[in-house]
Amino acid sequence: MRDESCSKSPADDLGAEATTAEAATAADSRAPSRRSVIGWGGAGLALGAAAAGGAALALRGTDGTEPAGSAGAAVPFHGAHQAGIATAVPDRLHFAAFDVTTRDRAELIRLLKDWTAAAALMTEGRPVGEGAFGGLPEAPPDDTGEALGLKPSRLTLTIGFGPSLFTADSGGRSGKDRFGLAGRRPEALVDLPKFPGDNLDPARSGGDLCVQACADDPQVAVHAIRNLARIGFGRIAIRWSQLGFGKTSSTTPEAQTPRNLFGFKDGTRNVAGTDGAALDRHVWVSPEAGPAWMAGGSYLVARRIAMRIESWDRTSLQEQEDVFGRDKGEGAAVGKAKEHDEPFLKSMLPTSHVRLAHPDSNGGAKMLRRGYSYTDGTDGLGRLDAGLFFLAYQHDVREAFIPVQRSLSRADALNEYIQHVGSAVFAVPPGVRDKGDWWGRELFS
Ligand code: HEM
Repeated sequence: MRDESCSKSPADDLGAEATTAEAATAADSRAPSRRSVIGWGGAGLALGAAAAGGAALALRGTDGTEPAGSAGAAVPFHGAHQAGIATAVPDRLHFAAFDVTTRDRAELIRLLKDWTAAAALMTEGRPVGEGAFGGLPEAPPDDTGEALGLKPSRLTLTIGFGPSLFTADSGGRSGKDRFGLAGRRPEALVDLPKFPGDNLDPARSGGDLCVQACADDPQVAVHAIRNLARIGFGRIAIRWSQLGFGKTSSTTPEAQTPRNLFGFKDGTRNVAGTDGAALDRHVWVSPEAGPAWMAGGSYLVARRIAMRIESWDRTSLQEQEDVFGRDKGEGAAVGKAKEHDEPFLKSMLPTSHVRLAHPDSNGGAKMLRRGYSYTDGTDGLGRLDAGLFFLAYQHDVREAFIPVQRSLSRADALNEYIQHVGSAVFAVPPGVRDKGDWWGRELFS
């Protein structure tokens, strides 16, 4: 638990896993202060060791994914794949893209080690470093404190490397190979083409690095991004970030399918986190595909898609259902009775979203969607600035997102009600295997 005090915290009435976490934290708090001898630059190893002690508290199914409905618990940080892809989708998101501002490769490596150590702690529900209080009074505390007393909340932290990390100067200006990584850029990490209808804001696009924080509690997700940004001070800067609520796709088909802001069930035919064969075929990069450092990783496409809520809300139910090719109540495909009945594509309009996005219309292409709804106030014209922050993981964007979006951008009836306004693509490396490993180790080795 994050509560470092000796008194009983409000979060003490948890299950067995929480009790274990408390015991681990209590043991830690009896250890002599390390803060006086190491700063953040050298804290990685010590923190990694501390993190290992709490691994037993986490829940994981036999397939490596979180059982649905275990809100509040911890999701294991270490594993063959990064958590936050096939694991169950909690309801809150804080996603951040970063520019790397240092030009020093060794500094970047140090940052990734520091981040890994902090991420391992935070996903266990522990504070960063020496915690939020009790250290040297002359120095700012290691942890910012707003997550003290909160549950681990199924926090997952997933890192990705953007195309600009491999060649360009921060912001993509000079094309100089800052970190000597040009030769290591995966062929599949392509810059996305411009699609018809794109209205992309550069200030909401791109990034050298990204971190996706998913959690049941928004404060836990925001705390995680904030503390990673803080650790990186002087080495990275936030380029853009996105808060999300209400997952729009899940990886747990046995749970109720969530609905998007247009009121339709979303994620009905998503890749399930328990479907090992589909994950291997469509989501994880195989060792044969290369490069070796990406085996077990995936490619992430992030798109901020504005949804014209006000126009949609004046559209007839029949038209709304025609747009998707599914009914609004049950979520069944046209002519079918139940949500999970196999769609018959020819009974749908040729412009319907499901017909165009279906694998049968795209040479079998599939991706694992795990996007979130967002509302960011108003657009200044009396309309909600709302939409879908689309996140999709796949083994190769050239075989999944790009062909599907090419077809959607040309013909989808949904285009009357949406606009893509932000875009980024990232290579998401495999999981951090154990406490000696760190995010991106194989890329830099
Ligand atoms: C605001 C934008 C979008 C909305 C509101 C939306 C909504 C939906 C809904 C309601 C469904 C049907 C239920 C389901 O199977 O999930 C669906 C299916 C799907 N969507 Fe989207 N979607 C959007 C954008 C996209 C984009 C950009 C892509 C990929 C380029 C995409 C790919 C898919 C795929 C692959 C399916 C499943 C098709 C099938 O197998 O039947 N969607 N979407």
